[in-house]
Amino acid sequence: MLVLGIESSCDETGLALVRDGVVVDAILASQADVHALFGGVVPELASREHLRFMGPLYDALMERQGLSAADLDCVAVARGPGLLGCLLVGAAFAKGLCLGSGCRLLGVDHLLAHLLVAGLEQELTFPCIGLLVSGGHTNLYKLDDPVTFVQLGRTLDDAAGEAFDKCAKVLGLPYPGGRTLDALARLGHADPGLFPRPYLHHDNFDFSFSGLKTAVSLYASSAGLTPAAGTAPFKSPEEASPLLCDCCASFNLAVVETLLARTARALDACPECRSLIVAGGVAANTLLRERMKELMAERGVSLHMPAPARCTDNAVMIAYTGWLWASHGLYHDLSLEPVPRGRPVPRDACHAASCNSS
Ligand code: KG4
Ligand code: ZN
Repeated sequence: MLVLGIESSCDETGLALVRDGVVVDAILASQADVHALFGGVVPELASREHLRFMGPLYDALMERQGLSAADLDCVAVARGPGLLGCLLVGAAFAKGLCLGSGCRLLGVDHLLAHLLVAGLEQELTFPCIGLLVSGGHTNLYKLDDPVTFVQLGRTLDDAAGEAFDKCAKVLGLPYPGGRTLDALARLGHADPGLFPRPYLHHDNFDFSFSGLKTAVSLYASSAGLTPAAGTAPFKSPEEASPLLCDCCASFNLAVVETLLARTARALDACPECRSLIVAGGVAANTLLRERMKELMAERGVSLHMPAPARCTDNAVMIAYTGWLWASHGLYHDLSLEPVPRGRPVPRDACHAASCNSS
């Protein structure tokens, strides 16, 4: 079965081909440079960029594989959660392909796709716990299989990636800040007592990162780490001051220890889960990867983390999840609607026999 995956939920336009669970090819156009000028993603600009790139990227991908729409069995598109205008571009393109070629359509939950793509590197074992840490979400799940899962917890305010990006901005680091902050943290020494491990005293699986962000802002202004107007822009981690690196290391440690504590609690509550998936953009974080490996080795839990390049948004995760779901016989019809951020993605995929997708 050949599945084309389309990702356009935020600021990456991606297309990928997966045949029988194996990646054939993928193509990605990042808009990071466009949005860096504004210090964050501008939704209207992002939709226009998707519109500009989608057709040419599709042509380039299919041409270099010598394929046409008639070869596709299924088009899987990220249906949300994400920026609505951006999702509409991907959904309209996917529906057009299905209408033109007669292949099946499947709307993929972008968050689930972040987790399931870990299965490309190493077979996933179920039931398992999933920690999704991205720019827009920080969620804990229990997954019984690739299509059956429940959400255990979520962030009540900022997502972990958002906290990285906002703290990076306060410290004068370029957007998106997570990766740069990670690089500076590796050069610094963390003070474990400098910042709080927020919300851990609550007996549940939720997160809250906005207080930690405020603590970093207050510390940064008292320590003179907030860049004054007219200061030269950040150049490279090697030129950063030791104090700035130490602050980044302390913040990084606070986020990582918070994520570790909550994940350990979820594993305690679900002893039948002997494996853990950690995914999403923040799963590229060096310290998080190291500490998760240590903790899971201690607990005898098998750990699945996508390679760092597959942690941030990409279309391989959509194509692969699409293939998994299509293998369970699940599809959508052409009335599929994108789901904006803040709304749950409905579980409305239907079995092929009852689904008139073309
Ligand atoms: O999953 P993703 O690409 O997009 C969303 O679906 O949100 O995640 C992007 C987030 C950004 O907040 C970015 O700063 C963060 O992931 N990120 C990192 C690292 N690389 C990306 N955060 C911490 N350390 C990193 N190495
Ligand atoms: Zn994402």
